[in-house]
Amino acid sequence: MLQKMTGSKFITFEGIDGAGKSTHIAWFVDTLRQKGEVLLTREPGGTPLGENLREMLLNYPMHPETEAMLMFATRLEHVEKVIKPALQQGIRVVSDRFSDASFAYQGGGRGVNMDKLEQLEHWVHGDLQPDLTLLFDLPVEIARQRLSNNLTLDRFEQEKSNFFERVRQAYLKRSQQFPQRFVLIDATKTPDKVKEKLEEIILTHC
Ligand code: TYD
Repeated sequence: MLQKMTGSKFITFEGIDGAGKSTHIAWFVDTLRQKGEVLLTREPGGTPLGENLREMLLNYPMHPETEAMLMFATRLEHVEKVIKPALQQGIRVVSDRFSDASFAYQGGGRGVNMDKLEQLEHWVHGDLQPDLTLLFDLPVEIARQRLSNNLTLDRFEQEKSNFFERVRQAYLKRSQQFPQRFVLIDATKTPDKVKEKLEEIILTHC
């Protein structure tokens, strides 16, 4: 559980595909706006260049290390041009994914060396970490069932269950490594129950 009770300014949403984070993030941001200005952004993306690179990252096959470096390249642009300027103006920033996704997907899922990812992280945002990370966690099979309703699946969503199992485990390991900023959300719960949990988090941590 988080030690810090209020004041989180940079908040990230994470979880495997199909965990439901995108459904909840809009509601979370609308509710958080009662406390002041909030910027909602996402990765890969968040800048015009980043959104173009997102298209490539989600659709073009590439070497896992190319994928990792492109994720961090879009992140550098995002951090410098969007996230830091907003935080400096006292605006809260909520990002749909950030570096934990690179450790989970490229590190856990694709097997890219974690030390190399740490070097990229240090290079790109050595001086900035999220204050609060909400990890939407659920068994892979339930996430897969939810994804099966989607008409089109991107390059990541088309991966097999064992890929997502590795991604999930890497996320859980990150949450144990950084317990001061991670909060686990049980994403098997109904949308209403998840909202209740998010409401409580806004009251206590934001
Ligand atoms: P996602 O955030 O799930 O968007 P949508 O809800 O529109 O599908 O999709 C982004 C995908 O990018 C997701 O499958 C995870 C992947 N990803 C990485 O592999 N590494 C990263 O560093 C980031 C930010 C995302």
